[in-house]
Amino acid sequence: MKPFILGIFQYIGPNGTIGSAWQHPDDTSADFLKISHWTTLAQKFEAAKLDFLFLADSYGFPALNGELIDAALAEGRGIPHGDPMPIVSAMAAVTSNLGFILTTSTTVEPPAANARRFATLDHFTDGRIGWNIVTGSSGATAAALMGKDLISHDLRYDMADEYVDVNLALWEGSWSDDALVLDKQAGLYAEPDKVRMVHYEGEHFRTDGVLSVPPSPQRTPLLVQAGASGRGRRFAGRHAEAVFLAGGDPAVVAANVASIRQSAVAEGRSPDSIKLLVGALFITAETHDEAREKYDEMLSMSTNEGAAAIYAGNTGIDLLALDPDRPLDQTSTEMGQSNLERYLSKDGTPAPLVRDILENFRTTGINGSVFVGSPEEVADQAEAFIATTGADGFLIQPHMTPGTYDDFIDLILPILRERGLAPTEYSGNTLRQRLFGAGAHLPDEHHGAGFRA
Ligand SMILES: Cc1cc2nc3c(=O)[nH]c(=O)nc-3n(C[C@H](O)[C@H](O)[C@H](O)COP(=O)(O)O)c2cc1C
Repeated sequence: MKPFILGIFQYIGPNGTIGSAWQHPDDTSADFLKISHWTTLAQKFEAAKLDFLFLADSYGFPALNGELIDAALAEGRGIPHGDPMPIVSAMAAVTSNLGFILTTSTTVEPPAANARRFATLDHFTDGRIGWNIVTGSSGATAAALMGKDLISHDLRYDMADEYVDVNLALWEGSWSDDALVLDKQAGLYAEPDKVRMVHYEGEHFRTDGVLSVPPSPQRTPLLVQAGASGRGRRFAGRHAEAVFLAGGDPAVVAANVASIRQSAVAEGRSPDSIKLLVGALFITAETHDEAREKYDEMLSMSTNEGAAAIYAGNTGIDLLALDPDRPLDQTSTEMGQSNLERYLSKDGTPAPLVRDILENFRTTGINGSVFVGSPEEVADQAEAFIATTGADGFLIQPHMTPGTYDDFIDLILPILRERGLAPTEYSGNTLRQRLFGAGAHLPDEHHGAGFRA
């Protein structure tokens, strides 16, 4: 088995991904608006040689029928949260290898604004940037906040295809590799005939212009995607170089992994041109019993009301208003579909009841797998999970900040290293080189290469 790719999941807010851990005396996540909180974490992750820090984001917030959900505010879940972009430069300044994957939605800003910001950050980080492309979770509230109507689910993805293409056209097409001259003696900054206007006309987006930033180390940031609906998987096949998957039932994850690799093949790409990374929570301690105690403590900070608020913000469905003894009667949503599809009847198995859905969501949250046990037990579970699913690694979710990470780094990582399942040194200069062991730029088989001049 190859060494796992290991990234860290965070968002600019209090709490981990299950319950409201900020209230625990040892948790520091309520400091999320202090720069030092992030620079300290980034240095910790780099010292452990972890591949990247992923920052999730959404403009959405938990609300139903135009009203904020009280439990979300009371518990600090889904709101508040800040913008991930501004903190990256500070973290890049105190690290030199850690990658940063940032989320932006294709439904908020014009694509050219996104292209310029990522190009600038790719310079500031020396090629350590990735873009997590989302069509936006909590889509209804995000759209209303922006003064727009919610765009239907599949149309959002059709628009996202064009949105990404505009970005690719600007990154790949504007500047030739040798356009920047910087000859002080000759007084020549850039070769005028090696920088060109880009023209793109789609159904939903157009641009006539140039990327104002000279080519960055990767040109196009590492392209990442996170929506696992059927349409989301097709989108991944076309664009993504890495996909974040929710964990959970290994058989379901294995099917998603296979389906996403198949979508890449359908786009003329090789099946391993996409790295599949599974969201997972690792709860460990020196002994099995201590780990179980930590797990129970985590669940004691996770309420039905808080879980239902997050679920409602994500899908538009209020689990607390439904009959707990029936399955979901709604089988589609124009909001995020992954968290609805997850609880529908599959392959003839009966659909779970609302009470079981709520309990599952309360205890596993939006991203899925929870591994609990002694360090050896957890390493065994993680290894078995990768063997069964064919995924490439994990996105390590926080419960306690920084406790969950300290436990992973101090107790689990040494065992993974002993087994050859985690790298001991950084390799590759850019994030793309680290993950693929190949070049810094988008590979030629990716359709984005077609935008090169
Ligand atoms: C590990 C992981 C991280 C995610 N991070 C984000 C995020 O930061 N922002 C976001 O809007 N959606 C994020 N998503 C995706 C949403 O959960 C949701 O699936 C998606 O936005 C809607 O697309 P879909 O209908 O294809 O599921 C993430 C998903 C996973 C599994």
